[in-house]
This record gives sequence, C-alpha cells and structure tokens, in this order.
Amino acid sequence: MRKIKSAANLERAREQIISKQKKYAAVISVCGGTGCQAYGCAKVKRAFQRGLGKEKLRGRVALKYTGCPGFCERGPLVTLYPQNIFYQRVKVEDVPLIISETIQNGRKVEHLLFEDSVDRQKIISSQEIPFYRSQMRLLLKNNDLIDPTQIEDYVAVGGYQSLAKAIYQMNPEQIIKEIKDSGLRGRGGAGYPTGKKWEECRKTPGDTKYIICNCDEGDPGAFMDRSLLEGNPHSILEGMLIGAYAIGASQGFIYVRHEYPLAHKHAEIAITQARKSGLLGRNILGSGFDFEVETAKGGGAFVCGESTALIASIEGKVGEPRSKQVHTVMQGLWEKPTNLNNVETWANVPLIIRQGSQWFSSIGTEKSKGTKIFSLVGRVKNTGLVEVPMGITLKEIIFDIGGGPKDGKAIKAVQTGGPSGGCIPAFLFDLPVDYDSLTQAGSMMGSGGMIVLDEGTCMVDMAKYFVHFLREESCGKCLPCREGLKRMGEILDGITAGRGNRESLFLLEELAAVVADTSLCGLGKTAPNPVLSALKYFRPEFEDHIDQKRCPAGVCTALIHYSIAEESCVGCGACKKICPTKAIAGEKKQSHRILSELCSQCGSCRDVCQVNAVWVQ
Ligand SMILES: Cc1cc2nc3c(=O)[nH]c(=O)nc-3n(C[C@H](O)[C@H](O)[C@H](O)COP(=O)(O)O)c2cc1C
Ligand code: SF4
Ligand code: SF4
Ligand code: FES
Repeated sequence: MRKIKSAANLERAREQIISKQKKYAAVISVCGGTGCQAYGCAKVKRAFQRGLGKEKLRGRVALKYTGCPGFCERGPLVTLYPQNIFYQRVKVEDVPLIISETIQNGRKVEHLLFEDSVDRQKIISSQEIPFYRSQMRLLLKNNDLIDPTQIEDYVAVGGYQSLAKAIYQMNPEQIIKEIKDSGLRGRGGAGYPTGKKWEECRKTPGDTKYIICNCDEGDPGAFMDRSLLEGNPHSILEGMLIGAYAIGASQGFIYVRHEYPLAHKHAEIAITQARKSGLLGRNILGSGFDFEVETAKGGGAFVCGESTALIASIEGKVGEPRSKQVHTVMQGLWEKPTNLNNVETWANVPLIIRQGSQWFSSIGTEKSKGTKIFSLVGRVKNTGLVEVPMGITLKEIIFDIGGGPKDGKAIKAVQTGGPSGGCIPAFLFDLPVDYDSLTQAGSMMGSGGMIVLDEGTCMVDMAKYFVHFLREESCGKCLPCREGLKRMGEILDGITAGRGNRESLFLLEELAAVVADTSLCGLGKTAPNPVLSALKYFRPEFEDHIDQKRCPAGVCTALIHYSIAEESCVGCGACKKICPTKAIAGEKKQSHRILSELCSQCGSCRDVCQVNAVWVQ
C-alpha cells in the first residue's frame, strides 16, 4: 500500500483495495491461528495453493491465511466466501474435494460441515452453529476475514477510519469524553474506567508520555489477548494511536508474553506496514501528529502482567511490583506519565470512535458495557474463544454456547477470573456476567478465563492447584505472599493426603485473610480467592476429606480405592491390558479384580471399562 497522506487518501486506498478484491470470484479463508497451526493448518493451506495452481484457479480464487475465529477445538477451520460455508476438521486429503465440489461445482462437502448434536442436522454457516449463535462478535468479527499480515485487508474492512476521524474531526478532550461516555472498563482484570485513566494521564504535566499495551496474558488456559493480537494486530495498533493522540504520548510499547511468537511476529509486521503506509511514525496521515510503537518481550512470569512489574521489565529491570502510592499514570515508565491498557481494551477503542459512545453503551449492563471475550474451557462440549455481551448469564455461556456437559456428568461450578478468581457453583448460574456480579459472588471477571467443572472435579484439589501456581509465581518480595501461600499450599496438601483436621480449615481462612490484607501487589491480594470461594460454596467437600478421609469426586489419590464390581465385569480384559502396575488379575470372560497393594490409583482402568464396572471409593 502506498503512503497515505490524508483522510481522503485513506478512503481512496480502501476503494482501490476493495475493487482489486472484487476480481476474485471466491475466497478461501484458512485459519492460521495457533490452535489450528497445532492441528496442521499450514499443510492444508499448502494443499490449497497446489490445488488452485493445478486447476488454474489462482487468478480467480483468493487464498487467505486468517486469525482465529474462536472454535479452535474444531480446527483446522476453512471458510469459503461469498457462500459463507464453514468447514471444520479439514485434512489435506479433503482439499481436492473442496476445490472440485464447492469451488468448481457449488456443492457442499457434507462430512466437513458441523453437525448439530441435538437434531443431527448439518449446518452450513458458522453463524448458525450453537457455539456462535448466542455470541456477539464485535472484536473477533474480523479475525476470519482478514490476513493479519496484510494491512490492505484491515483497511478494506474500514481499518484506520477511526484514527482519521479522531485526528481530523475530534480534539483530544472530545476523544476522552467519548471513551468516558462509552463506559468502557479495562479488560485486564480490575475493570478500571478507561476514559478516566486516559484523562488522568493527559492531565499529568510532562513533555514525554508513554502508552503500553499489556499482552502478557499469564493466566493459565487464557488465550483471548493472544488471538486478538495474532489475528487483528492493526486493530490494537489503531486503538493505541487514538489513545496516544488523546493522551499526548509520542511512544508506545506492546508488551507480549515471550511464549507468544506468532502474536509478536504479527505485531512487528503490523508496525512495519503501518509505518510504511504513513499511519505510524512522523506526520501521521499528514496531520503533524507523531507516534512510534515498538514491541517488548515479556519476562516470562505471571507477575510481569502486573502494571509496575511490567514497567520494570520494559526498563530492563527484574519484573517485580512496587508500591502504587504514586500511580503509573503520573510516574510510570522511566518515571514518566504512562498509560497501560490491556489488548482487548485497546481493541475496543476504534469501535467506540467509529460507532459512538451511545452505541457502545447500549450493549451490556448498567456498569459493565460492551462485550467481553472469554476462553471457555473444561468439561463442556464446545470449548474455545467466545465473545458475549456483558450481562449474559453464566448458564447461557455454559449451556447454549458451551453445549452443556461433555460426557453426561453434572456440571457443578465454573471457575472465572484466572488464578486470582474463584469458583461459582451451578445454583448461581443465572448470575449475569459483569464485573460487579462476579465479584459479589466471590470470584471476578479477571481477564476472561472460564473453566467449567463437573462432578469429576475435586474442589479441594482445584484450590490446591491455584495456590501452588501462585506460590510458584510469587516474586517473593513480600513475606505474607511468599510465606503465606507456601503454608496455605502445605495445609491443602495435608487435607488432600488425608492428614487434615478441623483446625486446618480455620488456619487456612486466617492465613487467607492475612495474605489478602497485607500483600503488596494484586497477586498476593487476590491469591486467596480460589480457596475462599471453594470454602464458601463447597465446604462439605473439605469436611469429607478431613472427617471421612474421603474424596467425593474420586480425585485425591491418597483417599481413594479402586475396585471392580464382580456382577458388572464382563471379563473383556481391557483394564488388565492398560494397567501400568499389573494390579489387575482375572481370566478372559471371567470377572477381574484389583490387587490394591499394587494399584497406583491412576484411574486408567476406569477410563477404559466399557461397562462401568470399575468403582472408585
Ligand atoms: C499478578 C497480576 C497479573 C496481571 N496480569 C495481567 C495480564 O496478563 N494482562 C493484563 O492485561 N493485565 C494484567 N494484570 C492487570 C494489570 O496490572 C493492569 O491492571 C491492566 O493491564 C490495566 O489495563 P486495563 O485497564 O485495560 O485492564 C495483572 C495484574 C496482576 C496483579
Ligand atoms: S504480593 Fe507476592 S507477587 Fe506481589 S510483590 Fe508481594 S511477593 Fe511479589
Ligand atoms: S487404577 Fe490404575 S493402577 Fe490401579 S488397577 Fe486401575 S489401571 Fe491399575
Ligand atoms: S486457531 Fe483456528 S479456530 Fe482458533
């Protein structure tokens, strides 16, 4: 794309790109996100390239490598336009068939279409699939339309129009008012009002100001920020440009988790392309506004996502938090006023500027506006990235979008908010998903992790997992977090090993209160949440472990015992074959038994038994 020197230039460039795109009769979009890469989408794309060449279709059919549309468990995904046909689990062998059947003859390849698990009907377009039907995809919408390495694709869908509007039709105060009026709150966890933060940073005196995009995303299992930066990096860059113009910043950083190589690569490509196109650097869009962005790789620790630790990490220091008596909007990076926002927060900005604060604030609840992206994982049929309007209930997310329990076991809770969040029990699933309701229920929105738990999950074990995770991630700077989490972990280890007593629970609660009250940063302050919420809603499970020395979910190995019900066993020998410790005895076609002295409680026999004859007590 040639250098763009004015808003009119941008519009002309868009028209030219669209008219060029129109020469293609069809578009094949292959998802190139990290999930689909793991499923081998690169081979699928190469097969399309070969197939289109062989059939002499290259000039008539465009092939795009796009970002993640969210339904990663069904990858590799391929969408065909303009018919909008959604193919899932596409293999290299399917490619010639897609070209001959769909591209050349307009027929569907039935076995690649999604099948509704209820009525067994094949579904053609993604919008009709239950996983997508209740979603409101504002931020993820363009992920499957654009190639993240091609700035032209972003410009074609209206990209950088909001920047042009902000620079040429609004002044910084008006932009900040628009963001304030929209009600946008930070998507990184705490939910601080974005417009207010920008205003505080703008008002702080200083010639040099910085803005930062936080793509550290340290929560285990969360991948919404990664998918946005990987799939639509220009939308984040555009948000940052608007923010920088409003705040008066001339330099920005995109801090990317070092385990996210594709997100980092796409951010770098986007920066280079935007600079070449006159959308970044000096005299942006011919307006006289200068702004530069560079990427910084994460320090590799969960705590580096915390604002002050992140700033220290960019400065080249150890990523440890400091006291926030002086806010980073006043003294942040190299002691200069600094505005830090999460990836999803920045991605919302161009939408608000383009469609207005009123439109944005009409979505969501009174105090939580817009949509939120969650990574829905755990014991549900459909897992992946879901974008929903705030205020939707947990039930709708888990049952309508997630498709309900994975294999018949009742769902008992959902863990939200990542390691600092909490577990919300099934009887509260009518709760609307917004910042305040989740916090009131003892959990939090966090950055958007959502793990669905069923009867097969032990809540004591769950709490133990998060405490150990956070203990390992604690930077160790302050004593309550360093020592308190260690002791809490030891108590939970004891309970799951059958060494707990009633005193353990009191001690656990007391320690949790001290760690939350006296830790320096958000890691320690919120670390007790998973334990406290598990105790609040699932106390009887803790008591069973202590009083009965029993794990009701059959998870804590020290407290369980496997046996085979004689009357149910058909003597197929599947369990005997899989048992790693040779703890199963019995002849073919006769009932088998478990030699408890050899059993390591691995659970493999229960998993393979087709007649449910293996019992855990
Ligand atoms: C231990 C810890 C880890 C955090 N990790 C992240 C993270 O990975 N990504 C993020 O955006 N915010 C993270 N945060 C929140 C940030 O400190 C900060 O509040 C946020 O990036 C501000 O952006 P927002 O206002 O757009 O939400 C973390 C906070 C704490 C205490
Ligand atoms: S609360 Fe924990 S992670 Fe935060 S500064 Fe203290 S020791 Fe470090
Ligand atoms: S639980 Fe594991 S070790 Fe024990 S009998 Fe079954 S397969 Fe063997
Ligand atoms: S990576 Fe392809 S659907 Fe998510």
